Amino acid sequence: MKFFLDTANLEELRKGADWGIVDGVTTNPSLIAKEGIPIEDQIRRICAIVDGDISAEVVATKYEEMVGEARQLARLHKNVVVKVPLTRDGIKTTAQLSKEGIRFNVTLCFSAGQAILAAKAGATYVSPFVGRLDDIAQDGMELIRQICTIYKNYGFGTQVLAASLRSPLHVAQAALAGAHVGTLPFKVLDQLFNHPLTDKGLDQFLKDYAKAFQETAAR
Ligand code: E4P
Repeated sequence: MKFFLDTANLEELRKGADWGIVDGVTTNPSLIAKEGIPIEDQIRRICAIVDGDISAEVVATKYEEMVGEARQLARLHKNVVVKVPLTRDGIKTTAQLSKEGIRFNVTLCFSAGQAILAAKAGATYVSPFVGRLDDIAQDGMELIRQICTIYKNYGFGTQVLAASLRSPLHVAQAALAGAHVGTLPFKVLDQLFNHPLTDKGLDQFLKDYAKAFQETAAR
């Protein structure tokens, strides 16, 4: 499973990229707004840090404006994937511009039926939101499993990008379900490293090693 970072914060992206395990980035209008920098400028900066697919989301809701925005975002960098909402206009934009070679991430997907629409429109990615379904007492991970099965049944080329992942457990479950990509907030990527037995084991190894060599030096 590829790891994308779900942030528009450059500091977090630099730290993640430095570990050598980040394959791409997803942003949304809320994440861009948090950084207070216009989307074009911020996406260019992100593309300079991470060499992988970078999702940049339109804010237009009507087809004609969406097409214009999508073309503008796609022109920013070859790695830009245009993110559109799973609406009638979003799907129409995806179906139309995919034919021109623009790549799409269809976002705000909350049902298996919606995911079929994204695949039929030729999206590169579909983003089902796990955490937001869990928030309303529905099983977000079951949606990932259903979409993976449906895409496999019909050989759809659209990749399942598990979004709204809130914990290391979500990441492992998305991988088990067969998601092609998991997009993680920086905090969750950082939490993935942690295990008390790793810390305990390393501490013991270093103590044993130091003790052995201190004893050799004392002889
Ligand atoms: C990513 O593409 C989504 O916008 C993001 O994962 C949503 O996460 P949230 O539900 O934690 O805001």
